[in-house]
Amino acid sequence: PIIPLRPLLEATDKYQFAQGAFNVNAVSQIKAAIEVHEMLRSPVILQGADLANGFMGGRTDFLNSTIEDKRIGAKNIGAAVHKYGAYSPVPIVLHLDHGKDFDSVKAAIDGGYTSVMIDGSSLPFDENVELTREVVKYAHERGVTVEGELGVLAGVEDHVFSDASTYTNPMKAIEFFRKTEADCLAISYGTMHGAVKGKNVKLRKEIVIAIKECLRHEKIFGVLVSHGSSTVPKYIVDQINALGGEITNADGISVNEIKQAIACGIGKINVDTDLRLAVTRNLREYFYHHPDKKNSPSVGKIYELLEEKKSAFDPRVFLTPIMDTVMKGIETDDDIRTLGESI
Ligand code: G3H
Ligand code: 13P
Ligand code: NA
Ligand code: ZN
Repeated sequence: PIIPLRPLLEATDKYQFAQGAFNVNAVSQIKAAIEVHEMLRSPVILQGADLANGFMGGRTDFLNSTIEDKRIGAKNIGAAVHKYGAYSPVPIVLHLDHGKDFDSVKAAIDGGYTSVMIDGSSLPFDENVELTREVVKYAHERGVTVEGELGVLAGVEDHVFSDASTYTNPMKAIEFFRKTEADCLAISYGTMHGAVKGKNVKLRKEIVIAIKECLRHEKIFGVLVSHGSSTVPKYIVDQINALGGEITNADGISVNEIKQAIACGIGKINVDTDLRLAVTRNLREYFYHHPDKKNSPSVGKIYELLEEKKSAFDPRVFLTPIMDTVMKGIETDDDIRTLGESI
């Protein structure tokens, strides 16, 4: 079944575990993620980022997605999740990741998302509170869960680069939860988005402990979300580079740090980069194993892009030539079908 995020958040809080949340950018990924979670008998959080909605709405230059693209894309993603998930034996949440503004949130909810993030972290505190509060009111009336964000992660966030993190102030986090009534909150405590997180990153877990302790004391419900949590497996980066890629300085958060953060009170863990890397590896492997496909009229263009953009690992960069087919699950020819299966 498709459910809101809230009951899952309550379970993580009660039993002190964390639930992974995985970003998807293609129908084949939605299907695969549900199948894997069914094998594990685990609930699943699928996330479509704001620009994933734009891309799935048919926008090849997805950085320029309009609200109309996002509306169409949210409906496409929502339809795919409902198609593969409605009768699944595991509970499935469809969550908007890094919702940019109120319109993005509305587009997601109209498309069938059961949970939304409103990322007002670049706004002054009071404006962030105001925007998040409005989203909470709108979403909760519709049974939809809300995630906010406080603090700025170092590295690339929302396609804007920041040199240093501004860690989340625990007292502000309590105030944020009290004033907005958000269900969960993305915090900045040492993680960052992307594949270049630095060597041996140590997370500021005392921030997590402080917020959770205060929330308990004040009897306020609130789950803490760890963004930028990809582990960036070295073997996948090595595979990409052995197949012609040029991904340098790649480092993730160690599994050990993540486990400790969960023990300190993190309840939701966002992963996108690891999946992007895996899809990039799979695309490169596909052409390695099927050299004849390099000249395929339908998928050959993907090979050209892999050759041209050696340091890229966002699948959307490679999949644009066939997005109408692989993205939306339309199987028009055999090359596209076999490539789609390898994603
Ligand atoms: O944290 C967020 C996602 O990794 C960003 O994804 O490129 O679709 O905005 P995006
Ligand atoms: P990564 O870039 O570490 O996968 O983080 C993803 C994320 O935070 C999505 O919101
Ligand atoms: Na942000
Ligand atoms: Zn994030």
